[in-house]
Amino acid sequence: MTAVRAFTASAPGKIILFGEHAVVYGYPAIAVPLTAVQVTVSAEAAPSGSGITLHAADLGRTLALADLQPADPLYDALAYPIHLALQTLRCPAPDLRLTVRSTIPIASGLGSGAALAAALIRAVWGALGQPLDDDVLNPLVYEVEKRHHGTPSGIDNTTIVYARPVYFVREQPPQTFTVARPFTLLVADSGHSSPTRLTVADVRHRYDADPTGTGAVLARIGAIAEQARQAIEAGEIAALGPLMDENHALLAELTVSSPHLDQLCQAARAAGAQGAKLSGGGRGGNMIALVQEDSADAVAEALRQAGAVRVLTTRVDSPS
Ligand code: MEV
Repeated sequence: MTAVRAFTASAPGKIILFGEHAVVYGYPAIAVPLTAVQVTVSAEAAPSGSGITLHAADLGRTLALADLQPADPLYDALAYPIHLALQTLRCPAPDLRLTVRSTIPIASGLGSGAALAAALIRAVWGALGQPLDDDVLNPLVYEVEKRHHGTPSGIDNTTIVYARPVYFVREQPPQTFTVARPFTLLVADSGHSSPTRLTVADVRHRYDADPTGTGAVLARIGAIAEQARQAIEAGEIAALGPLMDENHALLAELTVSSPHLDQLCQAARAAGAQGAKLSGGGRGGNMIALVQEDSADAVAEALRQAGAVRVLTTRVDSPS
């Protein structure tokens, strides 16, 4: 029998500042962890012979891992990460109760699937007394992301696992970057969920139908991400607003915005935000607005008036 101990693990959400979608095609993108929301998984020993049970506290449901088959809608999110954790540990399923709690809304562009996988795998390894390096965890979470999203770039899992600002180019080691002057973003939830898999597939269809036109849009998004990194490293925060606005317009051209996301961006700009764009897969989910301290409250209020169901504030800074 495998000895287990109580262990709690967590993982934050993420926001993409620049470069979503283009990053799938090898262009750079910039993302930061969003620690205001997170997934927590607590593992504790369970009665002998009970195997692994999962208590999804937010859903009020308790499930036996053995009952979750691949056809079940919850399999990829809950069971697959645990199977991966046990496989890499070469360990049979221990008697373990895992309690899952999340404040990251699902299908909203904040990385809920990657954070859930990261916290589950960390909890299983931790409960079995095994130290887990982020470099080992990251490819495992990427495997889960592939089941959720088909052809993900890997930016979501990388930002969430390492929990630090990331400058990311597909299939290259992630780089972090210095934030010369911290800045503040509002993160507003449109209240509409939209699976990333669908918007990524739609951009792929557009690209296949018109590689030159769509390729030019993606290349410009990549150039914006590069310019944004330079501005962040130079502390030129005022330069970020126009880059966000242009990035949003290009995402709209790729058809991954929505009337509501456009409206939220316009409301934020009209209330004094320096720039605004959708963040993540698009068509729903969240948008971000760059604000100065004196306009943050007015912009947050304008976003709520325009129908945002939740507005978070986050400060982007260098990792300590
Ligand atoms: C999703 O958060 C970001 C996308 O660029 C997809 C990906 O990078 O895998 C839309």
